[in-house]
This record gives sequence, structure tokens and C-alpha cells, in this order.
Amino acid sequence: MNILLVGSGGREHALAWKISGSPSVKRLVSAPGNPGIAALCETRKIAATDVDGLVALAREIAADLVVVGPESALEVGLADRLAEIGIPCFGPSQAAARLETSKAFTKAFCARHGIPTAAFGVFEDAPAAAAFLETLPGPYVIKADGLAAGKGVVIAATLAEAETAVVDMLGGRFGTAGARVIIEEFMEGEEVSLFALCDGTAAMAFGNAQDHKRAYDGDEGPNTGGMGTYSPAPIYTAEPAERAWREIIEPTVRGMAQEGYPYVGVLYAGLMLTPTGPRLVEYNARFGDPECQSLMLRLASDIVPYLMAAATGALTRLSEPAWREEAAITVVLAAEGYPDAPKAGGVIEGADSDFGGEAVVFHAGTARDAEGRLVASGGRVLNVCALGVDLSEARDLAYGALATLSLPGGFSRSDIGWRAL
Ligand code: AMP
Ligand code: GLY
Repeated sequence: MNILLVGSGGREHALAWKISGSPSVKRLVSAPGNPGIAALCETRKIAATDVDGLVALAREIAADLVVVGPESALEVGLADRLAEIGIPCFGPSQAAARLETSKAFTKAFCARHGIPTAAFGVFEDAPAAAAFLETLPGPYVIKADGLAAGKGVVIAATLAEAETAVVDMLGGRFGTAGARVIIEEFMEGEEVSLFALCDGTAAMAFGNAQDHKRAYDGDEGPNTGGMGTYSPAPIYTAEPAERAWREIIEPTVRGMAQEGYPYVGVLYAGLMLTPTGPRLVEYNARFGDPECQSLMLRLASDIVPYLMAAATGALTRLSEPAWREEAAITVVLAAEGYPDAPKAGGVIEGADSDFGGEAVVFHAGTARDAEGRLVASGGRVLNVCALGVDLSEARDLAYGALATLSLPGGFSRSDIGWRAL
């Protein structure tokens, strides 16, 4: 079968790595891809948001399936356009992707369907937001409504900081994404990322992981798109897993179908495991990045039948996928200045070494310069992944490989996995 994979990050490199190993794939094309993906398959310079370009490419290669990595492509309606021409798409419609693209939509949806999440208010003006903040005990959670690459959330310790964050967001710090702000009750607990494949009516668990969102060791510093992950999440035991499925995932898939926008693709639930049970922090309409990298290392089954079944309403015909027993870890190497102002152009050494099966390096924000050298071109530059008999072995292997890489000014966290270790 012919597959078009959309995206250019570490998540898509990991997907390309897994998909290209499937015996059912005849041709894999990635758009726009990155230098790591280009070593595995054909790439085309078409942006993830260029819907016309991607639809034309899907036609040109007679794609049997389009796999969408990033939310930006979903937000502009790529899945809808592919549906019009009958090409199966792993990824939700624009209306269903609102579970990620509009936090206000998701909060109201959760209220309609009794899905446990933080109490909240939605505001477009600062005085009303300030009045609501005064009714809360703190700490305060302030979020931009629209997409902000995982960076549109401020957790403020004091009322004054919270009010400043509101004024900043409404004042345009996140562009139009911050035209509305959500203020939430603070939920206490440990976080876990849960993945469910969905085909519009049925859902199937597809692994879990824990992410490290803060930039620096000890979970300090600004929020990022994620600095490292490990899978499975030891804290996600059978009891919270059963409750999360019954109280959060099932009502979501059912509710989306009932309301007329069936959800197709992977539903990524950011959960808070609170003392009273799992509660939803946020939904994303795609695989987590870098959660996906850890998941792909652990997935023993061929991924392609699962992606295809989700895209064509046939999930119930498959049994649950097989996962390797080992633990997987992913450590992000970020560019100097990430997340606020990542510096591009630093020359990367060692990324394409062979780690003899002990580790895999996925490219995230990389490019080739005019001389063909591999350089940093994004905030998160490389993802170093490893499997180990346990998390501590996986960690040693990943950090061993990381030590052989170089990027001037680049940094990574030295404590990925600390909660579980
Ligand atoms: P989000 O983009 O909604 O996932 O938020 C980013 C991060 O902020 C989450 O991963 C949590 O660590 C934290 N966070 C968001 N909402 C809450 C909340 N209501 N209570 C506690 N922490 C939160
Ligand atoms: N790692 C968090 C995310 O993908 O949103």
C-alpha cells in the first residue's frame, strides 16, 4: 500500500521508522519530512498546512492512507478534504480536532458529557477574569484558548502573577490563540499521557507514557512541548486505567459521534491522577511528541493495520496490539534558548551514528545547510531513544548515546524518568 505521512518532527521520524518496517508498505512518502525521515523514505517539500499541496500529492502517489502527525494540518481541515475525495485519513476532521484546537470547546464538551476535568471559566476581558480569579484558592491555571504549541499555559502561584498572565494573553502574547483565556481550578496529582486509537465509533487503548514538560531538571523552568518521556508509566496501574477508559475515553468517543463529529485517529488524553481519580487536563488530536517516540520503540505489532483500521472504521476487527516488555525512554536535545527563542543553525555532530540497536536517534528540528551539514532548525532538535530491561537500563543507554552527540549551546534534561526511578 502507498502511504503519505504528514509532518516533520521527531514524532513523524518515529512514525516513519515504524511504518517503513511494515511488510504491507509499497511506497512511503513524507511531506515535508526532515533529514532523518529522508534517510528512510521519499520526502516532498510541502508544508503540513498546505492542504491543496498535500491533497494533490496524495492523489499523485495514489495514497491508500494519509497519516497526519501534527495538529496544524488537522486545524486547517486536511482530513475533511481527503474525505471528500475518498482517501482514508488517520487524523480527525477539523470539527473533531477542536478537542485540541479549542480548549473552550473541550471544556464545554466535558461539561455536557460529565467527563471529569477541572472547574473553569472562559473570559475575553481582564476585569471579568480578575473577578473569577479572586474566587479561587490558587495556585492559578491560565490558558490561551487556541493552539500555542504546548506553551500557552501559565501556572501562577500568586493572584498578582495570575492577573499579569491574563493581561499578557489577552494583550496578544500568543496572537489570536489568546483572544480568549481559560482559567481553571488547579488539580493536584501526577500526570500521564494516554493514547486511544479511534475509528469514529470504537476506541482501542494504544499505550501510555509520562512526559516532562518543564525545560530544566527537577521540573523547573518554563513549560515546553516536552523534554523527555518514558513508557509505560508505572503509576498508570489497572485501577486508574479502567476508570479513565470508562469515565473519560468512552464518553468522549460516544459524545463526539452523537454530536455529529465522529473522532478518527489517535486521541491523546493528558490525565491528572488525582486523589479522587483520573481527571482530564487536556485532549490532543494527535500522538504526543515526544511520547510517540517512546511508544514506537515499544510497539511490537505492525502499526499499519492499526492506522488503516482506525481510518476506515474497522478497529473492532483487530485485537489489541502487542507491546514489548521493556521500558522505553526518550531524551530531547534542545537548541540554546528553547523554548522562548531557540537558536537555529548550530552544527550537529553524531546524529546519524549507528548505536548498534542500543539506542535510536530521531530528528526533530533539523535541516541541511548549503554545505549539506546537519544543523538545528527548531527548538527541539534531536530525540535520543532507548529500550532497556527496565527504565534504569533504558536511561543509561539513552544518556550514553546522548553523550556522543554534539550541538553548540544545546541542552537536555539529565533527569528524564526520575519519578519512576
Ligand atoms: P495543557 O497545555 O492544558 O496540557 O497544560 C500544560 C501543563 O500545565 C499540563 O501538562 C499540566 O502540567 C499543567 N496544568 C494544566 N492544567 C492544569 C490544572 N487544571 N491543574 C494543574 N495543572 C495543570
Ligand atoms: N508532549 C506533549 C505534547 O505532545 O503535547
